[in-house]
Amino acid sequence: MRNARWRAATRAAIALTGAGALAAGMALVLTAPASAGTTLGASAAEKGRYFGTAVAAFKLSDSAYTTILNREFNMVTPENEMKIDATEPQQGRFSYSSAEQIVNHARSRGMQVRGHTLAWHQQQPSWMQGMSGSALRQAMLNHVTQVATHFRGQIYAWDVVNEAFEDGNSGARRDSNLQRTGNDWIEAAFRAARAADPGAKLCYNDYNTDNWTWAKTQAVYNMVRDFKSRGVPIDCVGFQSHFNNESPYASNYRTTLSSFAALGVDVQITELDIQGASASTYRSVVEDCLAVARCNGITVWGIRDSDSWRSSQTPLLFTSSGAKKPAYDAVLTALNNGTTPPTTEPPTTPPPTDPPTDPPTTPPPGPGGCTAAVTVNQWTGGFVANVRVTAGSSALNGWTVTITLPSGATVTNAWSADRSGNTGTTNFRNVAYNGQVGAGQSTEFGFQANGTAGTLTPTCAAG
Ligand code: XIL
Repeated sequence: MRNARWRAATRAAIALTGAGALAAGMALVLTAPASAGTTLGASAAEKGRYFGTAVAAFKLSDSAYTTILNREFNMVTPENEMKIDATEPQQGRFSYSSAEQIVNHARSRGMQVRGHTLAWHQQQPSWMQGMSGSALRQAMLNHVTQVATHFRGQIYAWDVVNEAFEDGNSGARRDSNLQRTGNDWIEAAFRAARAADPGAKLCYNDYNTDNWTWAKTQAVYNMVRDFKSRGVPIDCVGFQSHFNNESPYASNYRTTLSSFAALGVDVQITELDIQGASASTYRSVVEDCLAVARCNGITVWGIRDSDSWRSSQTPLLFTSSGAKKPAYDAVLTALNNGTTPPTTEPPTTPPPTDPPTDPPTTPPPGPGGCTAAVTVNQWTGGFVANVRVTAGSSALNGWTVTITLPSGATVTNAWSADRSGNTGTTNFRNVAYNGQVGAGQSTEFGFQANGTAGTLTPTCAAG
């Protein structure tokens, strides 16, 4: 460790010109407190935490990438390689090679692995998108069992279920093919995961659940409380914490973490990125985790800004060329300075009675036909749109939603609908399992796009 530090210091010093710069570089190293860690992982470990990152298998051949990965992190989450479409591309045929590449890279270097994710409405293989009812329930449970069994003993924590709640003020479960198999699908997935890998912590993971006053946060909190009271095997809650202008960091984040922890679960920050990478916001997130005894650790969603799924927001700790950003220094300092609390959690803050944001409005369906309402989750450079299709006074046997995207917006992927076109006027047609909608009933699909959504005005046609 000391040698590595000296080598790095020497390299940095040689890169500078002039004796004054050399002396300054040396002094920095010599005055560093002996006990302070010099990497994110080591400093987090001194506080009984981990510091992780999302990793893409195809980048493991990039030595600039692996140099930072191997130096800084002691927890790894496969960014896409353990998702359902990656691990079970055809029903009953499992494919683990990219996921194993990451697991082996990590474990052979003493890093742990978070498994992400066993059950989710997105990134389903096409065979699963087209399923419903008990066949889908069985297929989902088989997937959970097979994948968790395959990696048994190698996973620190599994995101068993991802993103099962709706945005906005409804506090409702998100409509999806999995949700339509019955409200107990989440607990069924957790039970299957526990049976398959009893040693892994089992987490529920979601976004827009960071602000304690938001309805979605309260909805997940109520589910976890219910699960704990009924003995459903849940060990942890993952807070994705993708912070941006629309979903900013709020000072009640610590209250959120400690309130969940007080239910008797661990909490983990699972996909952290912050639009603009404000050093002070990164510092606050670290301080909040350190202040909650059951906050196990923090994972950032990528290493360099160029690795980010939202790279135009430059939300990460390293520049695209691999240099440490001010946010990196803030995180390291916060980890080194932090004190950790005793292990009893403070009592839960009562949930707010009056959530602040208005729910998306669904226009009343006219006679016959159908209507569509869209909810947009916008960040700089891209957005996810969820579209609710509601049948009028007659049942639908097929529907098409047309959305005219503003110039510069390009759809990159869609779920629960077949799309034609990806710019300008774009049509989304029902897939096999969601074309039939009873009178007055609804179904949902979604898409992700680059660019800015602006105000989207979907129209719906029956048939
Ligand atoms: C993202 C990945 O980063 C992208 O590479 C992929 O195209 C889409 O998914 N919530 C999650 C993550 O749980 O799995 C998502 O990861 C980001 C949002």
